[in-house]
Amino acid sequence: MTQRIVVTGGAGYIGSHVCVELLASGRDVLIVDDFSNSHQQAVARIEELAQRGVECLKADLADAAQKNAIVNRIKTFGADGAVHLAGLKAVGESVAQPARYYQTNIGAALTLIEALGAANARSVVFSSSATVYGDLNDNPVTEEGRTGATNPYGRTKLFIEEILKDVARANDQWGVANLRYFNPVGAHASGRIGEDPNDTPNNLFPYIAQVAVGRRKKLSVFGNDYDTRDGTGVRDYIHVVDLARGHVAALDYLSDGERGAVDVNLGTGRGYSVLEAVAAFKRASNRDIPYDVVPRRDGDIAEIYANASKAKKLFGWSAKKDLDAMCADHWRWQRENPNGYNE
Ligand SMILES: NC(=O)c1ccc[n+]([C@@H]2O[C@H](COP(=O)([O-])OP(=O)(O)OC[C@H]3O[C@@H](n4cnc5c(N)ncnc54)[C@H](O)[C@@H]3O)[C@@H](O)[C@H]2O)c1
Repeated sequence: MTQRIVVTGGAGYIGSHVCVELLASGRDVLIVDDFSNSHQQAVARIEELAQRGVECLKADLADAAQKNAIVNRIKTFGADGAVHLAGLKAVGESVAQPARYYQTNIGAALTLIEALGAANARSVVFSSSATVYGDLNDNPVTEEGRTGATNPYGRTKLFIEEILKDVARANDQWGVANLRYFNPVGAHASGRIGEDPNDTPNNLFPYIAQVAVGRRKKLSVFGNDYDTRDGTGVRDYIHVVDLARGHVAALDYLSDGERGAVDVNLGTGRGYSVLEAVAAFKRASNRDIPYDVVPRRDGDIAEIYANASKAKKLFGWSAKKDLDAMCADHWRWQRENPNGYNE
């Protein structure tokens, strides 16, 4: 029987790619998104790429007044499971507005858990983050590494992981995959969906891309005095399509009847510095990327990259696309949609 999957935050950057891969795997999808950081147009593009329709509920998962409607819709949809991506994700904003972050991110997760329970669906794949490791481990980081986030955003990820583990402990019918993403970049190779931040980008790649396309003058490189090969921060960039396929692999794993909760890194296992990423983007775009070195940003760490062997072992998944493909695809999306979804 066709599996029916709820994708919260399905209109967002990662969510739109997850929806395309889920549809390609033959599953049906219900997107639940309040469009607070995404565009309705993304849903149309998902359908265009998949050549079939998705259901979509515009709703705020953290709003108590909307909870009953959300629970009922997920029940009527006949969900078998969910990929949970809805939430707020700006680290700096989370430091300034911690209560809003806890309320939104944790509230949204609790509503989804209630809805899945009501629908008798017991599989959930959660968008966690490498930020749960803080700066506590040697590289490459394994899932057994120490956790300890350095900001409220990261703590919401840790708390939700723990909530889902408690749910799985309380009822052995639940299967949970907490996917700890490293740094998702790139876009679908068609150039039709990609990252379109509403405000000033917090992440490196959308910033570089907006400089390359002329929307911003200069990139700020936060610190070149880290203990890394060129002094700039090193991260494990992962192509968003590889990442999306990791979600399908996780759902396949849970569909095979695996229960309980697992934490799994999704990364490539390879780190690149900011300056290496800038150089690769320059090659892919053939554009100049002027930058200034500015002081370190609070909460940033020198270097982190994944040990990605658990995903291979449990899900049979590994990342396939290299940094050049990430840059080429990210650039195609930016060049063909210079203003994102605002045509
Ligand atoms: N992009 C990254 O670097 C990264 C890294 C690790 C983890 N994550 C996590 O992955 C998830 C998706 O990230 P993204 O980069 O696609 O972000 P995004 O902002 O593009 O997507 C999040 C989506 O959730 C929706 N949303 C937010 N609050 C909501 C609410 N209360 N109810 C319903 N919908 C709501 C937004 O409108 C958006 O469409 C997030 O949970 C994020 O924390 C992202």
